[in-house]
Amino acid sequence: MDIKAVILAAGKGTRMKSETTPKVLHQIMGKTLLGYVLDNVKNFVSGEFVIVGHHAEEVENFVKTNYDHAQTVLQSPQLGTGHAVSMVCPQLENFDGLVLILCGDTPLVKEETLKSFVEFHKSNNSDITVMSTIFENPTNYGRIIREANNSLKCIVEEKDATPEQKAVKEVNAGIYCLNWSKVKSAFGELKSNNAQGEYYLTDIIKWGNEHNLTVNAFTLKNNEEIYGINSKANLAEASKLMNQRIINKHLTNGVTIVDPATTWISPDTEIEADTIIYPSCYISGKNKIGKHCKIGPFAHLRGDVILEDYVKIGNFVEVKKTTVKSHTNACHLTYLGDSEVGSNVNIGAGTITANYNPLTKTKSKTIIKDNVKIGSNSVLVAPITIEEGANVG
Ligand code: UD1
Ligand code: CA
Repeated sequence: MDIKAVILAAGKGTRMKSETTPKVLHQIMGKTLLGYVLDNVKNFVSGEFVIVGHHAEEVENFVKTNYDHAQTVLQSPQLGTGHAVSMVCPQLENFDGLVLILCGDTPLVKEETLKSFVEFHKSNNSDITVMSTIFENPTNYGRIIREANNSLKCIVEEKDATPEQKAVKEVNAGIYCLNWSKVKSAFGELKSNNAQGEYYLTDIIKWGNEHNLTVNAFTLKNNEEIYGINSKANLAEASKLMNQRIINKHLTNGVTIVDPATTWISPDTEIEADTIIYPSCYISGKNKIGKHCKIGPFAHLRGDVILEDYVKIGNFVEVKKTTVKSHTNACHLTYLGDSEVGSNVNIGAGTITANYNPLTKTKSKTIIKDNVKIGSNSVLVAPITIEEGANVG
């Protein structure tokens, strides 16, 4: 069955306290929250709609630049999550498949989980399925309210909840699967008579029950996946969770990570087995690291870095947009930016590629060919090519 994704990304993100950056464009390891969500659905849906509003232009630009198959839909003013979804009603007027609704501020959910969620929806012949999980401390989340027979009754937001409802630990993850043709008319009927004066998407559960639809909850065991980001403290916590997940993947694949607690690796970094990452390294953006490399301690890879096998990037070495061929060492206090470094090269301590000309505001390349030795404290003013076998003193 055809599936479309609707990603809610119009909210103001007031609790992030950022004047310049919309919530969904905040980053975890150099990748935006919205980017994580779009990457999670792009392999199994036939189209994505991103609802934009607050800082709409920036979010639209982000989507256009990075996910050209996704469409943005403007929600202005922003009257709540239910109102946000109603914005796609014209686009989906004749759509007869499933609509998967996600929030742009929930980046930790895994693609496999979303697929199982959709399978659950189909195999239970559901019309509306909501993802839920259990939190010991459910503060801030909508509570899942069940009938005595355990069937789903409704969702109550924290701000509208009675003390008994607040004590419920099963919460709404903010992820829904809808049989669109049966549920779409709900969006014209939602009311805003609640504590926040908003049109709540969560009210579709009650609406579904009133219209004799099949309403189910898919309860996720791993509650970390639905961790929503509303504040900078949440962002820091989510970064930690994401990083642990990434580190575990590399450990399983045979990478040695001496101190997972102080090592940060972006989701788009590939590392081959037998490479060793020493403590306090920060690896962001897209990178490819070969086998038997030694990285750190205290190394910083800033993205678009390709290291072939047996490369050493030592302490206080920063690398950006650079390819380093095999058996090359840059062991101490070095900056390599916009560079191509050959094989068997030794980069002495304190070597800097001066890649940026502040007068012309342009960046240029440094090319260092095979078997070169760059002596300590060299500044290589780009554009520059050091030919094969040369020694720089
Ligand atoms: C929402 C749910 C809550 C759930 C939680 C899970 C509602 C009413 N509440 O609460 O039950 O436990 O998510 O994380 O749905 N947005 C818009 N337009 C709007 C308002 C919000 O696009 O008018 C977007 C936001 O950008 C955000 C998402 O919807 O990505 C959720 O909004 P947010 O305000 O964070 O809702 P929560 O209070 O977290
Ligand atoms: Ca939220």
